[in-house]
Amino acid sequence: MLRANHKRTIVATRAGEKSGLRGPGAFALLGLTLLLSCACLSCSSEPGGGQMLVAEQPFGKTDEGQGVHLYTLRNANGMQVEITNYGGIVTSLLVPDRDGNLGDVVLGFDDLQSYLAGHPYFGALVGRYGNRIAKGRFTLDGKEYELATNNGPNHLHGGIAGFDKVVWNAELGESQEGAYLKLTYVSSDGEEGYPGIFSTAVSYTVTNQNELKISYEATTDKATPVNLTHHSYFNLAGAGAGDALGNILAILADRYTVVDETLIPTGELRDVTGTPMDFRKPTAIGERINEVKGGYDHNYVLNSGGGKLALAATVYEPKSGRFMEVFTTEPGIQFYSGNFLDGTITGKESKVYQKHYGFCLEAQHFPDSPNQPGFPSTILRPGETYKQLTIYKFSIK
Ligand code: BGC
Repeated sequence: MLRANHKRTIVATRAGEKSGLRGPGAFALLGLTLLLSCACLSCSSEPGGGQMLVAEQPFGKTDEGQGVHLYTLRNANGMQVEITNYGGIVTSLLVPDRDGNLGDVVLGFDDLQSYLAGHPYFGALVGRYGNRIAKGRFTLDGKEYELATNNGPNHLHGGIAGFDKVVWNAELGESQEGAYLKLTYVSSDGEEGYPGIFSTAVSYTVTNQNELKISYEATTDKATPVNLTHHSYFNLAGAGAGDALGNILAILADRYTVVDETLIPTGELRDVTGTPMDFRKPTAIGERINEVKGGYDHNYVLNSGGGKLALAATVYEPKSGRFMEVFTTEPGIQFYSGNFLDGTITGKESKVYQKHYGFCLEAQHFPDSPNQPGFPSTILRPGETYKQLTIYKFSIK
């Protein structure tokens, strides 16, 4: 387990970015910085000769006085993710563009206070149940349960204090795969209305293949619904650089779950053919968004069917050349085009987040599954282990 304060490294990395150093120059500076930082950072050599680094620094305290940290994971190519154990939130994700410039591709804040003040799940781990459960009610094994309602009449993203608002235990380290942060949390019986003591572990790993890998596991002592996901708002052109409507999206799905006016699925799985919902061919997010009432906020039924790791979606941003692939074991993916961003939130580097400044691709089971007998089951029972793996992989084209 490796721990150190590395504030210097981050400052130097950002300085390299700002000074306009490109390609090999930027990497040389980064390399030198990393080398110098070894005095205060824990690091190790990889077989390929690269360096992997992990670091930890204080990130403030919650209103209840709980100390929170900010963790850094980096790979040999300079890709870097920062994560806080408050809500398991990814606060920044630096990936190279086609000139080798590192840029932050996720929305978020510079400080804990802004996260505590409330936000629309920027970068968060979402649980116990990602997306909505109608009226916060479901019946399981003949018993009716009532969950916290926090989105009109419905339950959204785990309730009033979902997993995005709890302080997770954190273990930082390096494995053969890369630098990782393992977060664990035990949700108590009755928390937000859910049954059972629910123990969950989520690991973020940054690999040398420029992947951000998120693997989830959970167990319970009473049957409970579960649908864990990750809620980063991406813009591959750079966070706060403008709207993300020029990002070119493909989703490997022939169908999506039709929703009512409160965004609860009706149960119908509708063919995307001939509609603005069809992303089987890569299409700019903005190309047909005006034809979709309210913008995109839909669960796509992945052709893979879930259960095994498969490509779910790709995003290409032509100006930067950045390309992202999303692989998941889940049967669905929520494509949300940041419709509720409205310029009232000021994020990192004082950038104001307007409508559509970021989009989410949340790998998941379908919304409201506990009330939809036709959807794949989301019930976890004692003795079973819930597993979910999602990978966001970055490259350039
Ligand atoms: C949901 C949206 C919601 C957003 C943020 C998304 O996952 O689908 O309806 O507004 O999260 O709150």
